[in-house]
Amino acid sequence: MKRLLVTGGAGFIGSEFVRQGVRKGYGIILADSLTYAGDLLRIKEFEKEISFHKISVTDRDAVEKLFIAEKPDAVVHWAAESHVDRSIMDAGPFIDSNVKGTSIMLDAARRHGVECFVNVSTDEVYGDLDESGSFFETTPLNPSSPYSVSKASADMLGRAFHRTYGLPVITVRPSNNYGQWQYPEKLIPVVVVKALRNESVPVYAQGLNVREWLCVSDCADAVFRILEKGKAGDVYNIGSGEERKNIEVVKEILKILGKPEDLIKFTKDRPGHDFRYSLNSGKLRKELSWSPSTDFGSGLNNTVEWFLSNINWVNAKIAALQEYWSKAYS
Ligand code: DAU
Repeated sequence: MKRLLVTGGAGFIGSEFVRQGVRKGYGIILADSLTYAGDLLRIKEFEKEISFHKISVTDRDAVEKLFIAEKPDAVVHWAAESHVDRSIMDAGPFIDSNVKGTSIMLDAARRHGVECFVNVSTDEVYGDLDESGSFFETTPLNPSSPYSVSKASADMLGRAFHRTYGLPVITVRPSNNYGQWQYPEKLIPVVVVKALRNESVPVYAQGLNVREWLCVSDCADAVFRILEKGKAGDVYNIGSGEERKNIEVVKEILKILGKPEDLIKFTKDRPGHDFRYSLNSGKLRKELSWSPSTDFGSGLNNTVEWFLSNINWVNAKIAALQEYWSKAYS
């Protein structure tokens, strides 16, 4: 299985997967429509090794031509609209990319007979938890936001293509990713960038919601393990076990940056805000012998360090970010 078609490979997590794939010797075919969140700078060091196609997964004809031209052995489908707050502002693009786009990709993969289709889902498809318990792969889906409903739909489409047509689909459900190159609309990069600019740092409600933080390099590594050793038709949770309240994460970042806690501004809550996510990743750890290699403390330090060294990348995006932030935090 050498030629991998990676959708969304110019995105935050997809690009980490592409970088690791090139280093591992895979032939990478990258399909990305380069929306606001996509950026080829993320894979610039490997641009000569990658076959890039600027196409949207929602464009059935373009996807068909791509499969004919490139003949991929496997598909790893990262392309998605991913930000919960944007889905609350407008669900439309989420239904298009995540539901329609996934169905087009699955259909093309079926007709062209790929060996494996990794369908990237999320822990948000399970809904949320209170202080105790965790999600297993067998937990019923109970998504809350327009984003997580669109991902649950895509997840179920993958299940249907496996069961109905025998397409070798593997579903992965990672927890919250963080790390280098993350677009500053998600909690960790928003806090880093706003604190660096001495602007107030928005924390929803009292910051008591809990997320399980997974370093992006560990996430991509886990997906390679699953691609290479996972079982068709199966689902794998990918978690780190590193649960933190949002307020703890925010205070830790301010401490690393040497910024005062009075930058924190508690804002109105996200509508329908999921309280806590927690994955049981025992299946991945036991059956495929995978474990994460980055603890949250060092991962967060490295991430802050990366933003300090790459602030020009953020500054180049600041006009678009300001426009988004002013809508999101008004
Ligand atoms: O759990 C996996 C999911 O993690 C992925 O499927 C999503 O694509 C990804 O966006 C992420 O979703 P979250 O909604 O958990 O991530 P976000 O960084 O937007 O928010 C993390 C927590 O921080 C959440 O409880 C909301 C809160 N938050 C977020 C932002 C952007 C704030 O308090 N202030 C903020 O400004």
